Amino acid sequence: MIDHDIRVLGDETHYRAANNVFRRALLNGPANDEMWEVLLESYVPGRALGVFDGDEVIGSAQSFPSSLVVPGGAVLPMGAVSRVGVRADWTRRGVVSALMRTQLRSLRDMGDVAATLRATEGGIYGRFGYGVATRGRDLRVSRVKAVPRARVEGRVRVRPVSEVGDGEELRALFEEIRGGGRGGGSGEGRGEGRGEGGRPGVIGRWDGWWSMHLKREKEKDPQVVVATGPDGVDDGFAMYRVERSHTEKSELTVLDLWAGTPRAWADLWRYLLGVDLVDEVVAHLRPLDEPVELLLVDPRGCRWESTSDETWLRLIDVEEALGRREYAAGVGVGVGGGGDELAVVLGVRDSLLPENAGSYRVSRGGVERVEDAPEVVLDVAELAAVYLGDVSFAALAAAGRVEVVGAGVGAVGAVERADRLFAVGEVAWAGTYF
Ligand SMILES: CC(C)(COP(=O)(O)OP(=O)(O)OC[C@H]1O[C@@H](n2cnc3c(N)ncnc32)[C@H](O)[C@@H]1OP(=O)(O)O)[C@@H](O)C(=O)NCCC(=O)NCCS
Repeated sequence: MIDHDIRVLGDETHYRAANNVFRRALLNGPANDEMWEVLLESYVPGRALGVFDGDEVIGSAQSFPSSLVVPGGAVLPMGAVSRVGVRADWTRRGVVSALMRTQLRSLRDMGDVAATLRATEGGIYGRFGYGVATRGRDLRVSRVKAVPRARVEGRVRVRPVSEVGDGEELRALFEEIRGGGRGGGSGEGRGEGRGEGGRPGVIGRWDGWWSMHLKREKEKDPQVVVATGPDGVDDGFAMYRVERSHTEKSELTVLDLWAGTPRAWADLWRYLLGVDLVDEVVAHLRPLDEPVELLLVDPRGCRWESTSDETWLRLIDVEEALGRREYAAGVGVGVGGGGDELAVVLGVRDSLLPENAGSYRVSRGGVERVEDAPEVVLDVAELAAVYLGDVSFAALAAAGRVEVVGAGVGAVGAVERADRLFAVGEVAWAGTYF
């Protein structure tokens, strides 16, 4: 194994060199000066790593200070990992492996309980303990077929925003909605409105994310609408762009849509589906449970085109992460081997952060590290996949990705108990691309 020279970057020259390596790795040219001014804001001291060959940066990885909503509504400090790239003449020589090892350790030292990333390819990050923890769907709505159903109540109360400016209004609205509302969902099942809670998987947007996002989108002339509740309080927004064509179909792309209440959600969609001169409305990576088709007379007017992975999650501090989420959402006390007695001992493997390895007894009442023999053994990447409820232990067991040790205690098998405990009330979704 080559002993790579990895350094924490601390000045603009190195930030820019690392950014160039990353952009080249993704087959893009370097950022121009104007773009660089915006990108520079997203470099946070201590969070950018570079691998050096002499004075030259040949590999890069970075994280942004973010947060992650977990089942039950707690918000964990999370490092949003990005800009991972290796110079083409240095690939397959262990550069990223070394970067990932160093980065995981430094995220833990900085107090991040989790890390998440978006992967260009699905085969890279599992070996570093990342698992797919949320997915999103792309949808396409034909406006000809998309006749909205008669409204049960209310009136359209969506207004265009003439000037987005520095995005202050959107940022404030996003923060309120993600705190306690529904990240784009229907509002069923969980207390809507503001306060504790929020959809699991939703992540915080950092300053640099907003500046980059607004700069990129502003160049494409987006439109923004805000939904206002009956009480006069704004409770949702959508950003979209229309590409008008006289020969092809005119397309409206939904770039961002967040609603604090089911009504705001429905009104925003009704508005978007009602924009004249548009043939099709498309949206990418929307929540798996977003019921757009239910708004239509003919549900076939809305086609879900594909589902893809969204969040790759890495649990950095397993004990803290397990301890901060809630268990057995919706399982009544005393239900089949359940209630307060519902518990399972998980055996976690983690070769890169060995302090995470060991047995954890997870019960409705909480989580403790124990010396007991585990009933279900799994790698930290598989734990990430079940953590926000995206897949079940049963599915992982069927795929041979968890090991079930013995029959376990009680009438209910260990896998079933684990699934009851890890069940979530709402499908996880992050909603922010980075
Ligand atoms: C993909 C990339 C980051 C990997 O970096 P690297 O330094 O070449 O990776 P390493 O040499 O440390 O290899 C680590 C492991 O990943 C595997 N691997 C590397 N690139 C891979 C790929 N594209 N797909 C699947 N596996 C890959 C290696 O075979 C090795 O496997 P092993 O642990 O079983 O030995 C790098 O090649 C790159 O920058 N590619 C283009 C840009 C890109 O895709 N960036 C990712 C942004 S999210």
